[in-house]
Amino acid sequence: MTVEQGPPLRVAVVGLGDISGVHLDAVAASPHGGLVAVADLDEARATTVGAVRGVASYGGGDGLDALEAMVERESPDVVHVCTPHDRHAPMATWLLEQGVHVLLEKPSAHTLAGAEALVEVAARSDAQLGLCFQNRYNTAARALRDLLDDGSLGAPYAGRGVVTWRREAAYYARSPWRGRWAEAGGGVLANQAIHTLDLLLWYLGDAADVEGTALRLALDGVVEVEDTATFRVRHDGGATSVFWATNGHLADSPVLVELLLRGDDGQAVARLETDLVVTRPDGREETTREPVLATGERAYWGVSHDRLVADFHAHVRDGRPFWIGAEDGARAMRVLETVYAASGLRG
Ligand SMILES: NC(=O)c1ccc[n+]([C@@H]2O[C@H](COP(=O)([O-])OP(=O)(O)OC[C@H]3O[C@@H](n4cnc5c(N)ncnc54)[C@H](O)[C@@H]3O)[C@@H](O)[C@H]2O)c1
Repeated sequence: MTVEQGPPLRVAVVGLGDISGVHLDAVAASPHGGLVAVADLDEARATTVGAVRGVASYGGGDGLDALEAMVERESPDVVHVCTPHDRHAPMATWLLEQGVHVLLEKPSAHTLAGAEALVEVAARSDAQLGLCFQNRYNTAARALRDLLDDGSLGAPYAGRGVVTWRREAAYYARSPWRGRWAEAGGGVLANQAIHTLDLLLWYLGDAADVEGTALRLALDGVVEVEDTATFRVRHDGGATSVFWATNGHLADSPVLVELLLRGDDGQAVARLETDLVVTRPDGREETTREPVLATGERAYWGVSHDRLVADFHAHVRDGRPFWIGAEDGARAMRVLETVYAASGLRG
């Protein structure tokens, strides 16, 4: 199939905090577009980043002011939204209504109602909404999806997701919104473990039924939101998964996603813990290594943002629908909403 390619995209970024450097680098590496402007509520931060990146900067104001000024003056084709969670749905909605494509950081909204409303807005818009679940671009994570599609080891019937990370008081002091229900919409689930939940939903199907709860084990008195959560999901495809996530560990341990598959020859185990190790029914093991391609900060964040960003830009440029969007955001938020409602933590 030949695809008609449009001109390179004019790309802008709003929200210039911790994750923005990864987006700015990914835009610089994207063969399909170039950075034209940046915006942040914090004017000094916008000016500094704009100067470093050699593009126009927009700052100050309130609410959507900096974003609106940037879009009106720079006419970007795509805006990457890297702001606190409660700004996601309002910014994405406004941009889509202007016909501007949006690459939105997770979660798609800070509430389930916001995430579901965004599904409607995105469906009505001619512009695209891509959601930043970049772990789906990890080499080993894709190999597991390929294994399920291939089907030769049978179908998955059980799954496990385990996220044991460390987030200390200083992480929340740096950006206090991260600890508040009103702005973050949740803690370890909404901010960190949602990537792992998304992988389980991608592998096993939407949640038909969820039971679980959330609590604070390590950060009581530091944050309002949960630092720990556990739940059990019955997926549409018939499989069941269990999930455990905490920010109260003393290190960032590798995330675990494990699936049990039942086929004609017996049980196979697919264990994704950075690398993917598949143990076949006869005991043979096959490993797909996750390449470590970078050092320093980029080794921590990985290269999957670069891959997702370039792929989103390619889809927008060619006019093809991107494959991770508002509905993927809403289905994760449906799980979180059930768990948060059961926890009683939101007051
Ligand atoms: N995909 C990932 O792996 C990943 C990793 C980290 C963070 N994130 C997500 O990225 C987003 C940002 O997280 P962060 O840790 O960088 O936050 P942060 O607090 O470090 O940065 C947020 C920035 O947004 C700016 N901002 C706030 N309101 C604004 C507004 N109305 N207009 C313009 N700018 C505004 C703030 O001034 C700040 O500079 C969150 O959605 C978070 O969940 C994703």
